[in-house]
Amino acid sequence: MEVRNTQEDKLVLKQTQAASSFKYKYLLTRFFPFLKPFLGRAILNFCISIPAGLLDAVTAFAIQPYMDRVINAPPSEQRDLYAILIPFAIITFAVVQGIVKYLNVYLTNWTMKKVTNYVQKKAYAKLLTLNTRFYDVNSSGTIIARFFTDPLMSASTILDQIKTILTTGIGSIALICVLLYNSWKLALVGVVVMSLAIIPAAMLRKRILKTSNAQLVVTGDMSTNYFETCGGNKTITAYNLKDRQYNTFDTQIEEMFDLHMSLTKRVAIASPLMFFIASIGFAAVLWFGNHLILTGDMSIGKFASFLAALIMLYKPMKNLGDALTAIQQFFVSLSRVFELFDLDSEIKDKENALKIEGLKDNISFEHVDFEYIKDVPVIKDFSLSVSKGETMAVVGNSGGGKTTLVNLIPRFYDIKSGSIKIDGTDIRDLNQNSLRSIMSIVFQDNFIFAGTIRENILMGKQDASEEELQTVIKSAHIDEFLPSLPEGLNTIVGERGTSLSGGQRQRVAIARAMIRNTDIVILDEATSALDNESEAIVQSALDNLMKDKTVFVIAHRLSTIKNANRIAVINEGRLVELGTHDELMTIENGEYKHLYEMQFKQQETLSTNTH
Ligand SMILES: Nc1ncnc2c1ncn2[C@@H]1O[C@H](COP(=O)(O)OP(=O)(O)O)[C@@H](O)[C@H]1O
Ligand SMILES: [Mg+2]
Repeated sequence: MEVRNTQEDKLVLKQTQAASSFKYKYLLTRFFPFLKPFLGRAILNFCISIPAGLLDAVTAFAIQPYMDRVINAPPSEQRDLYAILIPFAIITFAVVQGIVKYLNVYLTNWTMKKVTNYVQKKAYAKLLTLNTRFYDVNSSGTIIARFFTDPLMSASTILDQIKTILTTGIGSIALICVLLYNSWKLALVGVVVMSLAIIPAAMLRKRILKTSNAQLVVTGDMSTNYFETCGGNKTITAYNLKDRQYNTFDTQIEEMFDLHMSLTKRVAIASPLMFFIASIGFAAVLWFGNHLILTGDMSIGKFASFLAALIMLYKPMKNLGDALTAIQQFFVSLSRVFELFDLDSEIKDKENALKIEGLKDNISFEHVDFEYIKDVPVIKDFSLSVSKGETMAVVGNSGGGKTTLVNLIPRFYDIKSGSIKIDGTDIRDLNQNSLRSIMSIVFQDNFIFAGTIRENILMGKQDASEEELQTVIKSAHIDEFLPSLPEGLNTIVGERGTSLSGGQRQRVAIARAMIRNTDIVILDEATSALDNESEAIVQSALDNLMKDKTVFVIAHRLSTIKNANRIAVINEGRLVELGTHDELMTIENGEYKHLYEMQFKQQETLSTNTH
């Protein structure tokens, strides 16, 4: 079994569990700053909620005078007045209520969206700061499920729920006042039983937490499935994997169904249970009310008003129950959101991080040790110094650690021990942006953004002049394929640059690196995925990029390696040989000589044969 360290465990999103979801005070305290900028409108909204909730009670209250002073009263002028006034008042209240409710909905949505946006922005900003390791251990689907769904879910309903609790709370209190006004004895019976009805909803919280965690894991897996279908559609087609993909999806969606139903069973039973308890209360009220009327303790009008208020009370009580369920969901999501905010996988700038303008003397590795997984060393006691203007070729067997080594220079990962220095300063003491601004990197497979070719090149240097752009277009040999594109430089290349050939994509990536005109250039097998013809032209573009720079080049082409000032041979994470081609060839049984015999020599005979 793999040994994993604790820091890495925390990075695995699937393992986080919304552990603090019942710590309401802690969660609300942390949530408050997100609400704070919009507090004014939120409070205004809550204030509006109060009359909006009150108005139901007014209608119920109006029944009593209407019954007792109109229907049950002897004919009189006053009776006629009430007969008109009371229905008219009800309509007026309805209009007021309508306006207030409209404002309420508008304000609720406004504040809710603002708070949600704030949480989502913060989550996305956090995502951008996470280090490469984080992206190594989490699938894109899981990341999206966690960084998109939860922040959206968490904040989007809470204000609605608070509003519900406020309006229904205030509304319920008003209705309860109507009950008390009509008969405090009867009210006591009704309210006690109604309150008991909320208990089933409150008992759901653990189940909600468990289901919600599980659902999110499956949601992540499902998204990953979609990504694989987009990115790997050729492989899926070529290897007849459609059934396999479908079955995976089928399993996931059925699992989602089971999770959903297991929660639904509990939630659904809560509602009839509430209704049952409420009906007991209602029955008790009817029985006791009849008794009170018979004994003359209560008028028929009061009883009718009481009943209306009691019936009206059922809805806010039920809403209150639903809001309690939804708020549990909110706390679970919120707890997970804070777990994301607390992810400690940033490569941080030190407080007094130094800005670096360029390379003056050298880059040096000093006794560097690095591991991805605890106790599995990948780079071991590695020391090497590369002077300004030098081209250092890095060669070695596959899996030896070449890519890892060059990825340490821009601090994609931090090393375990030793140091990497630029002009004598440890790169961990440098401002990261400035560190990365002095180097350009071309990978084996470069990421092309959805957008135009021009935009993709200018990502290297956003304020580049048209002249600079034209220069790199020539040097990177992009001008040679531009005429074949419908819109030239302004041709939109699809997501990941799929509408370009491999060689064209590499040349766009080289132009992007070139326009930066940085002191340091890092090339990681930038031509190895190409056919011979595109390789030759991309190599020529790379040669232009490398001119007068300090270069780390991981290469498999003999000519590139021979042209380098020195060659570092890496085997199992160690520097085993260092020198020029001629020097290394003289080492008997040497690693380089062996590689040469196995790989490079063949290229030499091939190229002399074809030329
Ligand atoms: N992101 C990663 N997480 C864990 N192990 C990795 C990761 N990347 C590379 N490795 C391991 O590190 C070792 C060196 O890999 P790499 O630097 O890519 O070698 P090379 O570029 O020389 O082929 C390999 O054993 C590889 O499996
Ligand atoms: Mg590699």
